[in-house]
Amino acid sequence: MKISKYIYIFIFVSFLFPKKSIDKKVANLLDKMTMDEKIGQMTQVDRRFLNPQDIIDFGIGSILSGGGSVPEDNSIEGWANMYDSYQELAQQTRLKIPLIYGIDAVHGHNNVKGATIFPHNIGLGCTFDKKLVYKVADITAREVAATGIDWNFAPCLAIPQDERWGRYYEGYSEDPDLVADLGTATIKGYQNKLGKKHSIAACAKHFIGDGSTLWGTGDNDYKIDRGNAVISDEELYNKHLIPYQKAIDNGVLTVMASFNSYNGLKCHASGYLFNDLLKEELGFEGFVISDWRGIDEIPGDYKSDIITSINAGIDMVMVPGDVIWGGQDYHDFLRLFKESVLEGSISEERINDAVSRILKVKYMMGLFDNHYADRSYIDDFGSSKHRDVAREAVRKSIVLLKNEGILPLSKDVKHIHVAGLGANDIGMQCGGWTMEWQGKLGDITKGTTILEGIQSAVLNNSKVTYDINGENGQNADVGIIVIGEKPYAEGVGDRENLNLSEEDIATLKNMQKYNYPLIVIMLSGRPLMISDQINNWDAFLAAWLPGTEGDGVSDVLFGDYNPTGKLSFSWPNSISQIPHDYQDKKNPALFDYKYGLNY
Ligand code: BGC
Ligand code: BGC
Repeated sequence: MKISKYIYIFIFVSFLFPKKSIDKKVANLLDKMTMDEKIGQMTQVDRRFLNPQDIIDFGIGSILSGGGSVPEDNSIEGWANMYDSYQELAQQTRLKIPLIYGIDAVHGHNNVKGATIFPHNIGLGCTFDKKLVYKVADITAREVAATGIDWNFAPCLAIPQDERWGRYYEGYSEDPDLVADLGTATIKGYQNKLGKKHSIAACAKHFIGDGSTLWGTGDNDYKIDRGNAVISDEELYNKHLIPYQKAIDNGVLTVMASFNSYNGLKCHASGYLFNDLLKEELGFEGFVISDWRGIDEIPGDYKSDIITSINAGIDMVMVPGDVIWGGQDYHDFLRLFKESVLEGSISEERINDAVSRILKVKYMMGLFDNHYADRSYIDDFGSSKHRDVAREAVRKSIVLLKNEGILPLSKDVKHIHVAGLGANDIGMQCGGWTMEWQGKLGDITKGTTILEGIQSAVLNNSKVTYDINGENGQNADVGIIVIGEKPYAEGVGDRENLNLSEEDIATLKNMQKYNYPLIVIMLSGRPLMISDQINNWDAFLAAWLPGTEGDGVSDVLFGDYNPTGKLSFSWPNSISQIPHDYQDKKNPALFDYKYGLNY
């Protein structure tokens, strides 16, 4: 009787303190590890550059798929098979430590053919809707889990301030509190029920100041991306740390270091940022991953980059081994790392801390018990159930910025003429980080274009015609033109001027000659400069980068949904107003923060 009482108490106590038992498991395992095995755990290689045998020979602890790093069979089964084959190799190592596989599923599982692709964060920001953003993350996690993958390099908690930045769309808002709310909703959606197979580890990125770099300071031949952010302590605490503190308080498992410099010093080299601020002061207990070749950008040779970054508190290095593109060989990384330890430039204590953090996350994820893809999630991958939520996200993200009484359209308009580069193009709707790192125009994956959405919304007696350049539209009753930006990602999208393209201007001119009301829809990763154009338009909608479900746009056009989207930042009136502070009322923008019309 008495003994069973103690057993109950024990079960009760270990239920209260599950972390304790994980800490114990971590300590036990760490005790058994050699230095080589520890260094292996701290190493992440892109699958494109990995010799799979090295999982066994070097105990590599993590693999990633960078943008566009897809298996030959880019189907859901192809991914699950690939993932399992790597985990099988990890099971052949002495200690059988499972791999943790990371990917950028930043708007749905966007490298995988047939995935449900959601709006990029800029669009989600304009929904101001935590519940919706949670649902989006939950579905993304399920689609990621269907491929076996454990870890998402998301959410991006950048607070973008300069529209010329090519990563503007990766941020939710200019308002740190909104970034904190939506970022946390995302983390909860990914990490919901940790240890169950549909739960994936989140990664708050990029720590810190990625959205505050200054034009002209960019690195890697970029204009602003990876540049220098000049941030006072006050701004650090009142702005940049807000979303991170909330993410940490809600259990985010990993944080990614940022490419940019913080007051002149590369973040990747800063012990202040990772050891003191993130881990000590903010209380972050997960692990820190470096960004793609991020340590290489620290001044000095590669060995000193390794020493500096590990000592600064980086726990795992995204090497990623892209020698063919000028990156470092991961074998050199392993060798130089070991040398640095033997010389005493990196302490064993620092390594034990890093490896403990990594192992802890692997235990919390349930990877030791469950390291193969759960194929039961495959059926729902890209399903209509998932796409319905994406469509909801699209219609809620659209911001109606002008309406001279033309919207909503009636479904029995006799003749609608549709035009523009973005009207019938899934790739353009999706933007960067879709199938490829940079994204791509064209029929890149399954989805519904905006044109197709319009065609299926109208009644049978209505005619919808389409010409990409806006020609041949005579006799129509209304024109709809979809303009905007071609796909780009990161610094490749840094742009000095944000004018409409020549192509768009020409198409607009073609449409304007017919004198019917003109509805303009913009697909873009940021506000473009339209002050000199908008007077010619009867209605204007910002649709951001909505993803695969273009029928969310027609839901708004035809009034099936009364628009609720509001700007999550201010829309500058000209390039000279950039960077415009969303709180600056003295210097009015073209459209203010939270502007958005309805019917
Ligand atoms: C980006 C990160 C991304 C990583 C892996 C980097 O270039 O800055 O946001 O997670 O690549 O693809
Ligand atoms: C990778 C991306 C990465 C980028 C950084 C690309 O080749 O696929 O994931 O973010 O390089 O430069």
